[in-house]
Amino acid sequence: MCGIVGYIGTKKASPILINGLLRLEYRGYDSAGIATIEKDGLSIMKDKGRVKNLYNLPGIDDLEGTIGIAHTRWATHGKPSKENSHPHVDNSESFSVVHNGIIENYNELRKFLTDNGYTFYSQTDTEIVPNLIHYYYNKDENDDEQKILRAVKNTCKDLKGSFALEIISKYDKDHMIVVRKDSPLVIGKGDGENYISSDIPAILSFTREFYLLNDLEFALLSRDDIKFYDTDLNPIDKKVQTIEWNAASAEKEGYEDYMLKEIHEQPTAIRETIGAKLDEGTKCTFDELDFTKDYLKGLHKIYLVACGTAMHAGLAGKCMMERLCRIPTEVDIASEFRYRDPIIDDKTLCIFISQSGETADTIAALKLSKQKGAKTLAISNVIGSSITREADYSIYTHAGPEIAVASTKAYTSQVVLLAMLAIYFAETLEESEVEVLNLKKEILELPKKLEETLKCEERIKAFGHRIYQEKDVFFLGRGIDETVARESALKLKEISYIHADSYPAGELKHGPIALIENGITVISIMTDPKLVEKTVSNIQEVITRGAKTLVITNQDVDAKLFDTVIRIPETDSFVSPILSVVPLQLLSYYISKEKGLDVDKPRNLAKSVTVE
Ligand code: G6P
Repeated sequence: MCGIVGYIGTKKASPILINGLLRLEYRGYDSAGIATIEKDGLSIMKDKGRVKNLYNLPGIDDLEGTIGIAHTRWATHGKPSKENSHPHVDNSESFSVVHNGIIENYNELRKFLTDNGYTFYSQTDTEIVPNLIHYYYNKDENDDEQKILRAVKNTCKDLKGSFALEIISKYDKDHMIVVRKDSPLVIGKGDGENYISSDIPAILSFTREFYLLNDLEFALLSRDDIKFYDTDLNPIDKKVQTIEWNAASAEKEGYEDYMLKEIHEQPTAIRETIGAKLDEGTKCTFDELDFTKDYLKGLHKIYLVACGTAMHAGLAGKCMMERLCRIPTEVDIASEFRYRDPIIDDKTLCIFISQSGETADTIAALKLSKQKGAKTLAISNVIGSSITREADYSIYTHAGPEIAVASTKAYTSQVVLLAMLAIYFAETLEESEVEVLNLKKEILELPKKLEETLKCEERIKAFGHRIYQEKDVFFLGRGIDETVARESALKLKEISYIHADSYPAGELKHGPIALIENGITVISIMTDPKLVEKTVSNIQEVITRGAKTLVITNQDVDAKLFDTVIRIPETDSFVSPILSVVPLQLLSYYISKEKGLDVDKPRNLAKSVTVE
């Protein structure tokens, strides 16, 4: 978690750093700080609380430095406090460091440094880093221009865990060093200035040209040059990558919150994700993939592995893979998968879904699958993210930057991409011809139907007003609708802090119905014509027990039976989550607003979970 920003150029660094941090606040927001190189040495300004509090720190406006590093924190080691905030410095205040990730062997290193006379003032794992750099710097007898870089390299060799690090020093007022391992960091190339960030959108208004570092590669930045080195400090070449997203797509564009903007961006996100890959008359194409019929026929299993909302997209993917391709498919939560000794061999295809491409558990699960001999395929929204660099194959959702912590457009884009992947597999296998044809037609109509679905906003807002003070809400569905029930319950919990749970409707009688009492809200999704009557019967059972009901459906149900029915356009049930989830995303949004909560930055959560 945590966000980091860096600047080296000719302008005052502090406003640029704070501006960058504000855009990265979704990664963590319990403390923030900046370090700059001033005429008389390093200046560190930090405190607990939101990034905007930095503006109130005495002396912040007087900073003149044109090189600086910055951090917004999501606490792991040590509670949010000024002492635990980054940047950290070594005892002699010669080196300053910001860090995203976790140093797993910090206790051991802390002991080593303590034995060597160093003192620690925070409870963080990070504070060992500047001190270890100082230790190696002092030990080095060569006084050449790579002395700091060598100290950083030696430090990184001792670190276990994950880290994206920015380092500045009072000994070198014209350079900054960065390095990463299993934590995100991008370098933006400007004209006479360079930028660092945890993600691309935060610095997209300054540059469209980026460099990406692989694990344990170092970059030495000056104002008009960037030098790259491998783990042993041999110089390496890097190609600059140009990003197509524009800065405006990472701004709110008149919406009150990013989440609302992102919900409304779904027709475009789906259109962009479909791109030129799908057409009614031709086979579905993925230029990035070369799976043969023999390979797919020989597969014993597909695993879809992810966390959170991306895992819910995987659940929809499982329905499609099994029905269209007849390949057994399992969905796994990445943090469970990596420790449960899954049965994987070269007849297994492991697909990893991650909006950010930086989720620690998903990356670890991918590495494990590779070691065990499976082919690995990443589905991500971020070009060049860690997961796409690890996987054998990568395909992308084109949802544009997603800033709100609660995922919306990334989820629907993942479901559509999984549908297209299932079509690509089925066509390669020459399976399910008729179903595939129908599904293709329906996918192409989704952007239009999404626009239609979004028209329910006012009615949903009204329903949200009725239930925003409730303590518990239940979501029900069958088949693919049950996957939407799960995602909708998660969304409601995440941003409204209302306890929400989901159940397969048929399972209700086996326990959950004991929770139903007068006035409780039960929300159900019914889009599969084969299952709608069964679900209606289950809802009758809760109505009898006094429940208030909201139904999301594309079927002809008797509206009189329920409190509110939201009618959405009909589509193939495989892709119905893309439409049926939308009213429920809006419901969570409006309930959170009614409660006066911070929709985009819910408490305790972070957008990108780069720690275990
Ligand atoms: C966090 C976010 C969720 C997201 C999950 C997986 O928990 O708050 O919105 O679904 O991580 O993230 P990923 O980037 O791997 O899709």
